[in-house]
Amino acid sequence: MKITYALLISIFLVISFTSCNVKGFFVKPGDDPQWVDPNPQPKAGAIAELPGEKVFKSKCAACHQANGKGLPGSYPPLVGSKLLNTEPTTPIRIVLHGIQGPIVREGQSYNGAMTPHKDILNDLEIAEVLTYARSQWGNTGAAVTEDEVKAVRAKTASQTVSYTEADLTKPL
Ligand code: HEC
Repeated sequence: MKITYALLISIFLVISFTSCNVKGFFVKPGDDPQWVDPNPQPKAGAIAELPGEKVFKSKCAACHQANGKGLPGSYPPLVGSKLLNTEPTTPIRIVLHGIQGPIVREGQSYNGAMTPHKDILNDLEIAEVLTYARSQWGNTGAAVTEDEVKAVRAKTASQTVSYTEADLTKPL
């Protein structure tokens, strides 16, 4: 008889102990640390960054804006820009040595000075950032190669000041 009582009591204890939320006694809700993937993969269907996009965002977008529309009166738009979409030596010269002085784009006057990037970006980075900008926002310029940038860099090595619009109308 004694054994049966002891057995029943232990069964009762086991059942009542396991049926209550043991963890809930000691761990407050919200204590569980969220597992964070240290090496996140892009979600399926996410669009990978294009070559040149990173350079554009870090070196051009502060002035010309991520959407290429610029800021009226301060930074001209790259969307539809003739000097960007023309034969490649022109935009390469602009990125290497900068452009300064008065210009009028879409009825807006600009009289600024763009930073020369010859010591900031290498030939491949310039090729990729121009290829990117020439293919975005409806732009139509063809891809620019690293060799084209290299050739223009060599040919314009003695250039010490930024170009004016008039300088750029002369073929290299
Ligand atoms: C510090 C601001 C600034 C940054 C950074 C900058 N630009 Fe410019 N950019 C200008 C200004 C200002 C002009 C117009 C200068 C003038 O008034 O003559 C210009 C003009 C241009 C033009 C000529 C547009 C036209 O239609 O005449 C191109 C092309 C261009 N930038 C491309 C780039 C690219 C590509 C980058 C990044 C590698 C870049 N810019 C970074 C300020 C900037």
